[in-house]
Amino acid sequence: MAEKLVLAGPASRDLGRAIAERLGAPLLKSEFKVFPDGESKFSSDARVAGKNVIIVQSTYPPADMHLFQLLLASHHLSQEGAKITAVVPYLAYARQDKEFLPGEAVTLGVVAHLMRSVGVRRLVTVDIHSAVGLSLFSFPVYSVSAIPALVEYSRSELGLRDPVVVSPDLGGSTRTDAFAQLYGTALLQLSKTRDRVTGGVKLRDAKLEVRGKDVLIVDDIVSTGGTICAAAEAVRAQGARRVVAVCIHGLFVEDALRNLQDAGVETIVVTNTVPGEFCKVDVSEAIVSHLKTLDD
Ligand code: R5P
Repeated sequence: MAEKLVLAGPASRDLGRAIAERLGAPLLKSEFKVFPDGESKFSSDARVAGKNVIIVQSTYPPADMHLFQLLLASHHLSQEGAKITAVVPYLAYARQDKEFLPGEAVTLGVVAHLMRSVGVRRLVTVDIHSAVGLSLFSFPVYSVSAIPALVEYSRSELGLRDPVVVSPDLGGSTRTDAFAQLYGTALLQLSKTRDRVTGGVKLRDAKLEVRGKDVLIVDDIVSTGGTICAAAEAVRAQGARRVVAVCIHGLFVEDALRNLQDAGVETIVVTNTVPGEFCKVDVSEAIVSHLKTLDD
């Protein structure tokens, strides 16, 4: 069996260390530098020929910089003879998995192409936005689910009374359905439309049985918070008692946090695919269980 080494990239230092510890694999010594003009540099003199190197690097904002750091490290280490597995807990560009408006680039396809060209042999991510994205990769790609861990946390830590799961978006209903089934509660569905030019979010009117209930709004990504805010306002207006947002990837860009609070979201639960103060659920165990199933 080839020796395994873990590189904890600058975007995922803690998660990378946790993964190395759970795998019982040493951390690879390396240096990432960003010059004052924004250029990145990677160096490592580790001997990696014939070894399995697992590079853990999430690609949350600044997405392009984090992605480029992953590409630099992958290229350098694969040139040195390592077999590269990229663990990218939050996969940037996963929402650009098709041409939504005529003339748009399918950016996730470009990401897949770049990864392959720098020697990435396989990719492990967490709850990819849509299964459509998996088909854009010409090498093995695996999406590990954080839903069981989020359900366990929500059950044991949130003290909810008469809970019900609300999906803000038809696109994410497979994920929310899995959450509701594991939790053992009803799933209520909202339907969102997004203006593809302005990015604005609108929900179709829907009557939901939420009066007096505690509502878990479950989604994959919270970015500007527009989606969760619209759903929170809708369930609040229909008499929900408490509103909790449970998401995999917490980007919280712009005024997301203030807007979520203003919309009546009482608690936010996200995983550590993106580090931050609302990370309540660790994905290292799910990732490592999957890594252990992969061949050399
Ligand atoms: C979109 O389809 C995703 O599932 C999320 O709902 C979306 O990316 C969240 O973005 P925002 O927080 O900006 O509304």
